[in-house]
Amino acid sequence: MNTTILGLDKEKVNGLNISLNELLANFQVYYQNLRGLHWNIKGKSFFELHVKFEELYTDSQEKIDMIAERILTLEGAPLHTFSEYITLAKVSVGKNISKDTEAVALIVSSLSELLKIERSILNQSGEANDEGTNSMMSDFIAEQEKTIWMLKAWLA
Ligand SMILES: [Fe+2]
Repeated sequence: MNTTILGLDKEKVNGLNISLNELLANFQVYYQNLRGLHWNIKGKSFFELHVKFEELYTDSQEKIDMIAERILTLEGAPLHTFSEYITLAKVSVGKNISKDTEAVALIVSSLSELLKIERSILNQSGEANDEGTNSMMSDFIAEQEKTIWMLKAWLA
């Protein structure tokens, strides 16, 4: 087996880096969605949601950096251009959304897409014995599932 300096199977790590870049791209779309929602939100929930969306984009900004740096740790190259992000985007791009329920529903659907990618990475990282990526994905998944619960409670 051809291994990396971290002792991981090179071929499996290459596959993981492709998937991590897919997650990075989709997180960037999610992040930009949140910025748009933070700016454009209107109505009686403005103060509450304006702050909540900032909290979520600040958190996703940290996760974006963690994903990119995980790719570098695995000797890959993180994608960093909007054109590449858009070609890999599965998260819907939200535009001119100002209604509270529409905004929160977009976040729920974005998180749901991110979860799908993260679960598929978790399978790959398990297969590659890559504990670093495993634990990162586990943390992201648990946090996002809880956020979805709260957002759905808000929507109910
Ligand atoms: Fe702001």
